[in-house]
Amino acid sequence: MAYNVPQSKEAFLKMCEESGTAFPYSEDLSVFNKEITIGGKTLHNRIVYQAMEGCDGTYDGAPDELTKRRYMRFARGGAGLIWFEATAVLGEGRANPRQMYLTDKTRDDFKRIVSDIKEEGIKANGFEPIVVIQLTHSGRYSKPEGVPSPLIAYNNPIFEKDNPIDKSRIVSDEYLDTLHEALVKNALIAKELGFDGADIKSCHRYLLSEILSAYNREGRYGGSFENRTRLLTGAVKDAKALTGKDFIITSRLNAYDGFEYPYGFGVSPNGGITPDFTETKMLLSKLVENGIDMIDITMGNPYFNPHVNRPYSKGGYEPPEHPLVGVQRMLDGISELKKDTPVPIISSGITFLGSVSANVCAGYMEKGGFDMAGYGRQTLAYPDCANAITSGANLDAKKLCICCSKCTEIMRKPGGTPGCVVRDNEVYMPLYKKLVLGKE
Ligand SMILES: Cc1cc2nc3c(=O)[nH]c(=O)nc-3n(C[C@H](O)[C@H](O)[C@H](O)COP(=O)(O)O)c2cc1C
Repeated sequence: MAYNVPQSKEAFLKMCEESGTAFPYSEDLSVFNKEITIGGKTLHNRIVYQAMEGCDGTYDGAPDELTKRRYMRFARGGAGLIWFEATAVLGEGRANPRQMYLTDKTRDDFKRIVSDIKEEGIKANGFEPIVVIQLTHSGRYSKPEGVPSPLIAYNNPIFEKDNPIDKSRIVSDEYLDTLHEALVKNALIAKELGFDGADIKSCHRYLLSEILSAYNREGRYGGSFENRTRLLTGAVKDAKALTGKDFIITSRLNAYDGFEYPYGFGVSPNGGITPDFTETKMLLSKLVENGIDMIDITMGNPYFNPHVNRPYSKGGYEPPEHPLVGVQRMLDGISELKKDTPVPIISSGITFLGSVSANVCAGYMEKGGFDMAGYGRQTLAYPDCANAITSGANLDAKKLCICCSKCTEIMRKPGGTPGCVVRDNEVYMPLYKKLVLGKE
């Protein structure tokens, strides 16, 4: 059964009743307009446009035409912070042949796009959006030449049931040392290029996220909590030391993967897939000790349990729960983690909330559940949603993301460059027809 995203408060309250969920709710959206200073940078408002990969760079890894179009739309949209999408730091860790890739050859292009984003933001809205770059290694999802070339932390029978991966694809400790250096070096390069911050990406089961559950791996990066968190916490510490106080070091972090122990982080070692934040809380404390400036919390895996990662109306499978149950798991989970975390926290997974997303997030923010609201799919459908929210207006039902997963369907096709097929149809409907429906 498909659930449509709520387009009014009444529809939302009815859905809450049907799904047995409950959320805080505020009619007053003024909390979004409170400035916040993080890592020496001041965000004009509390709206974050989450990292949204377009798979549309040049083959060298520089932003191309569609990439620039997307970021200019975001820049005009009025968010206080724009999270620049997954950008590879090692070539073999690219998720597709057109993934962003920071190298000597592409540096100037990155410098140009950050300065263009800021200029466009000032021109459209009178303030400069803060721009953070997401530094990544795609691990088991690496496809630098367009065919799977997985590099894994350990063999995982849940993911490898149909496609076993040879042990030779398990990365060595020395390789992970090199990755540590690449992440730290690229954080400094990002600062030099004009970014305001760098994200040491550790989410959605890409390599750093996978390592957090490497309970059965041997060596310096597996087994104990200390070892499994070594790469993330060490890279954060060294990146912070190198980039100094006027630069944000952050991480987009999976608080919970949704897979049973010993294959998932944020679950109990006693079995089941209910979130257990014991280790997540320990990790957050360690990140804070190591100098992290803010944390962007997310959950799940977009390939195996997208209903956890981005609750949807229509997708690749019928979800085992009402989408609002997934949204509540995410937002209540983030609020629980926020209680013990003294640095600013960003939420994820709110697009399914439709026209009431800002009211629900305002409700959470008013009671200290998180500090900033992070929009993912909504930014592709409704790139100026931040301006609507900060002006105190209701989101326009005709512009909302309907959570139909067509962007993801495009992304999963070879050469696919995702965008919103429904609301940005002039550009993306032809791509959808060609790549997904097989019609010219
Ligand atoms: C097309 C597409 C591209 C994405 N790219 C990234 C990415 O580069 N990095 C990342 O951390 N998450 C990425 N995500 C996940 C989103 O940032 C976000 O976490 C997810 O869509 C749930 O939030 P939402 O409910 O607001 O959409 C992507 C999602 C989609 C649909």
